[in-house]
Amino acid sequence: MSGSLVSVTEGASLNKDVGTFAFRWMVYLKPLRFQEGAKLTAASPIRYIEPVYRPPSEASSLIVPITDGCSWNGCTFCEMYSQPQKRFRAREPAEVLEGIRHAGERLGTEVRRVFLADGDALVLPTRRLLAYLDAIRTQLPSVHRVSSYCLPRNLRKKTIGELTELRDAGLTLAYMGAESGDDAVLERINKGETFASTCEALDKLGQAGIRRSVMIINGLGGMSLSLGHADNSARLINATAPEYLSTLVLMLADGGVRYRQAWPDWQPLSQAGLLREMERFLAGLDLKRTIFRSDHASNWLVLKGTLGADKARLLAQVRAAIERPDTAPLRAASTRGL
Ligand SMILES: C[S@@+](CC[C@H](N)C(=O)[O-])C[C@H]1O[C@@H](n2cnc3c(N)ncnc32)[C@H](O)[C@@H]1O
Ligand code: SF4
Repeated sequence: MSGSLVSVTEGASLNKDVGTFAFRWMVYLKPLRFQEGAKLTAASPIRYIEPVYRPPSEASSLIVPITDGCSWNGCTFCEMYSQPQKRFRAREPAEVLEGIRHAGERLGTEVRRVFLADGDALVLPTRRLLAYLDAIRTQLPSVHRVSSYCLPRNLRKKTIGELTELRDAGLTLAYMGAESGDDAVLERINKGETFASTCEALDKLGQAGIRRSVMIINGLGGMSLSLGHADNSARLINATAPEYLSTLVLMLADGGVRYRQAWPDWQPLSQAGLLREMERFLAGLDLKRTIFRSDHASNWLVLKGTLGADKARLLAQVRAAIERPDTAPLRAASTRGL
């Protein structure tokens, strides 16, 4: 269950998403795709504003937008929700509940998993989230997993008791883009979070019994902060022992204008540098039962396993790619993407 991302509707990712309900409806409803404020009708059970992102492991999930955009939208590397139509807003409860009701009528017991969109749906108050989870349980009775992206700050005002209520109501998995455990990197990329705030949020989720899928971005610290990024990201993961861990490789849209503005002397890592950083990160991990995936399309080298059982094998794969890149199963540059 890697926690990285796939656009539901865009280019290279499309094939992976043929199974998503969102995608199927979008195909049916092409004329409505870009219409903001399109009224719900029998033909349009849920309104999607493109682009819609979800983790790869949610490919067969029904995507239910309960917000649009990201409430923070400040990370300098991320252009996911920077288009005007994705300005952050909470959706009207009446619209969300009606969409879930329609989905229940149309899809009944077909839906097993629901992903609450967009970028940090857990920003909504607990009471409203509980109302949506209750509607999902009632209208889509075969759903056994509801998940969402989550920012540490979304949880600051939520108690462990509230999170436990959410878990009991069906929210069993949260994807958190920690991105790095290094405070200097987090400050440079304007994540608005720290090692401590991320740790606290992951611990809260864990105590509430909500499984955590954490994302770390390889290359995020560039050349100057690579070592600290690898070491402190490993420290963060060790301290929180999430159930799932995934790594992506930094890919900057538009040459990274915002990224470089905020960090003018940032120097990207070479492919070898990225692999060396990954080696150091993996070497620093001390885990017992974390499912690890580095298979997102942004990665040069696909790695999959359980940490710690597969640590030696994963390290050997990375070291082989560093020493013999010509014979390593590295992705072609043209096939990489976000
Ligand atoms: C759609 S975003 C939503 C995640 C959520 N808002 C959070 O920050 O936890 C999912 C993840 O995509 C990854 N991502 C976004 N832009 C990226 C980029 N330019 N390069 C690599 N990974 C990126 C980050 O790991 C981010 O957390
Ligand atoms: S919080 Fe997540 S979605 Fe929002 S800007 Fe940062 S990475 Fe992007």
